[in-house]
Amino acid sequence: MIKKLSRNDPCWCGSGKKYKHCHLNLDRRKIGLFQRLSKKAQKQPRHPTDSRIIIKTDEQIAGIRKSCQLVKKIFEMLENRIVPGITTDQINGWTHRFILDHGAFPAPLHYKNFPKSVCTSINNVICHGIPDDTVLKEGDILNVDVTTVLKGYYGDSSRMYIIGGKTTPEAMRLVKTTKECLNIGIEQAKPNNTIGDIGHVIQHYAEVRGYSIVRDYAGHGVGLRFHEDPPVNHFGEAKSGPIIVPNMVFTIEPMVNIGGYKSRTLDDGWTAVTADGSLSAQWEHTILITESGSEVLTK
Ligand code: MF3
Ligand code: CO
Ligand code: CO
Repeated sequence: MIKKLSRNDPCWCGSGKKYKHCHLNLDRRKIGLFQRLSKKAQKQPRHPTDSRIIIKTDEQIAGIRKSCQLVKKIFEMLENRIVPGITTDQINGWTHRFILDHGAFPAPLHYKNFPKSVCTSINNVICHGIPDDTVLKEGDILNVDVTTVLKGYYGDSSRMYIIGGKTTPEAMRLVKTTKECLNIGIEQAKPNNTIGDIGHVIQHYAEVRGYSIVRDYAGHGVGLRFHEDPPVNHFGEAKSGPIIVPNMVFTIEPMVNIGGYKSRTLDDGWTAVTADGSLSAQWEHTILITESGSEVLTK
């Protein structure tokens, strides 16, 4: 038996401070999170489609990892094919075929009536662009967002492509900075930090460089369903939101605009564009929280 720490004992972390002035509040919030989860788990047996289970079992993690590795392979397959002159429908076709050939299913297809197997978002499109006969031209910046369902497990990642390898210095800087936003967000994704810590650093990093962060779309828990709790905003306050604990799996997927943060949805009901027509970029990974930090499952 371990003795329960009382408020005035020295903190377990070795800081030399009293427990009440150090980790007490953080520990209480963590315990609260676990209790809420276990109550829910009592009400309903664990099932691969129960979106409320945000802490994954080792078996589920193994399945999610495989799905994420398939997403990674899709980007490798696409790498040399995305050149000026092709259409976004071709990207859809290649991705759809590759996913089926690997025993999986493209999560976007028929998801809330989304009509295609992948999202392709060009220039001022923030996200959820629908593949069509649009021809890619040199200098376009394109986001391809791939989500696979393999044996019931989801992997979700997106990346930017610079069409023809050349674009304006402005677009180049946006794409690079957005990737950095994702990376510094991932650095914050570790036990005892909060979900708010992730959004906070991302927002700061983007805004000091003159960009804005899209507010209308967030990262999300993922693995047993496409979109699970918790939402992962890419803006907000440090030390806010749920505490991060091992075996959570969620995405970080900042959308960064050169102009204002406001978005607008086109009449197709999906395509999200910048309200002011400015360029937008996005990078996304699915990450697993480990004891010491995180593992990027889609890398
Ligand atoms: N893959 C997107 C995400 O990162 C969601 C796309 S929903 C779709 O969450 F229906 F457009 F595919
Ligand atoms: Co995605
Ligand atoms: Co996502």
